[in-house]
Amino acid sequence: MDAQRTEFDPVALGDRETTLLVKSILIPRPIAWVGTVDASGVANLAPHSFFTMVSEEPPVVMFSSTTRKDSLNNAEATGEFTVSLVSRPQFEDANQTSAPYDPDVSEFAAAGVAEEPSAVVTAPRVASSPAVMECTVERIIPVGGNFMVLGRVVHVAVNTHTLRTDARGRSLPSASDLDPLTRLGRNEWGTLGEVLAIRRPNAQ
Ligand SMILES: Cc1cc2nc3c(=O)[nH]c(=O)nc-3n(C[C@H](O)[C@H](O)[C@H](O)COP(=O)(O)O)c2cc1C
Repeated sequence: MDAQRTEFDPVALGDRETTLLVKSILIPRPIAWVGTVDASGVANLAPHSFFTMVSEEPPVVMFSSTTRKDSLNNAEATGEFTVSLVSRPQFEDANQTSAPYDPDVSEFAAAGVAEEPSAVVTAPRVASSPAVMECTVERIIPVGGNFMVLGRVVHVAVNTHTLRTDARGRSLPSASDLDPLTRLGRNEWGTLGEVLAIRRPNAQ
């Protein structure tokens, strides 16, 4: 027998409650730990789980800011940001950097997260993150009360010990070694769990 369903009407429920519901279903979400600097050089770091890849050629990723926040303002002002992968050991630190610090406070300093210089952008990266991307802002697109920040990936750095050579000789990081955290609904976060591998099928 099919499970009984509870139906929800977004109009009756309202945007806020519907969004909470969707955020509990659209899981797990990868977490971009977004690093930026403001015009006077103060660094900023904040987790964003509205984060994905939006173009392959060229490689473009996106994070979305709910209302105007420091990360958005800095990316807009400087045209740059970094994305550091949040790995299991950084659970508490990543959460701490989501606190509403004033714009003139660096979350790197306030949360005790060591920064390292980027290779090609001014915004710093998280030193302890196993994989980081440096991005230049392609476009900022307002959607409802959000701002989608699209960034072209201009540099990538990965901890060497996570890299494996695949059948075609390409060096790609092992998911288990990256040990990423994800965002779930409520106040819940996830770890990777079981990793499954399968070949892409041919059309029969
Ligand atoms: C795991 C996690 C994911 C988050 N994802 C987002 C997000 O996608 N967009 C957003 O605007 N805020 C998100 N937040 C909240 C921001 O991190 C928080 O508002 C932060 O203070 C913003 O910092 P900023 O003003 O320095 O940019 C998230 C928080 C956590 C803990």
